[in-house]
Amino acid sequence: MKDEKQGNPRHVAIIMDGNGRWAQAQGLPRALGHKAGMESLRSIVEACPDLGIEYLTVYAFSTENWKRPRLEIEALMRLMSEYIDSELDRLNRKGVSIRILGDIQPIPAALRSKVEGAVAMTSGNQGLRFSIALNYGGRQDILQAAQALAKRALHGEDPDRWTEEDLQKCLYTGDMPDPDLMIRTGGDLRISNFLLWQLAYSELWTTSTYWPDFTPEHLAGAIQDYCGRQRRFGGI
Ligand code: FPP
Repeated sequence: MKDEKQGNPRHVAIIMDGNGRWAQAQGLPRALGHKAGMESLRSIVEACPDLGIEYLTVYAFSTENWKRPRLEIEALMRLMSEYIDSELDRLNRKGVSIRILGDIQPIPAALRSKVEGAVAMTSGNQGLRFSIALNYGGRQDILQAAQALAKRALHGEDPDRWTEEDLQKCLYTGDMPDPDLMIRTGGDLRISNFLLWQLAYSELWTTSTYWPDFTPEHLAGAIQDYCGRQRRFGGI
């Protein structure tokens, strides 16, 4: 494998950063940056199947985003709700299956039931696996996996027999392959508590382009770059 170039990535994960700065640059409120970000997401989801992407995972709201002003949090929740209202039928027709990564208990009840409805409606679909990280944190993900394992120990399992795979299966992404490629827009070079376990060997690609300006052409460029890389997974 070592001299071979990559095929297209099966799983692409994205930190959709820069909505606020995009809005600020045009003298608009931050909420309009998120709205423009939602439009960007629409076109990226649409473009995935043609680029051979089987899994798309986006970071919509982190466990740390509760620190934002209340009005901005409300605007984000409203946008997610609008997104489901406007996109669900179309995504379902295209065979997209939606799932949520994260603990959605603290999410406002109306949005939570809408999200649960979308997941249930699309769960049998065989097209793009579209995961939305919502109230998600990588550390919290590992913690809840450890808690699930600890409960099994209480029921008599021997922790010394567990492998990495046992923990991996308890993560929110349990039955998904790890991301091959992680894209971050907006210029910062950080993982920001996204998929900490799952990104261990992912290829990283960043751009200073703000998320609302990120187009399927940028995505194709990132994939082209990925295809020219060699992945060694710690080997030589
Ligand atoms: C980061 O930009 C972006 C977010 C915290 C939210 C991303 C949300 C969307 C794209 C809206 C729609 C989502 C769904 C799932 C429908 P930032 O606000 O941190 O930007 P900044 O770094 O420029 O301030």
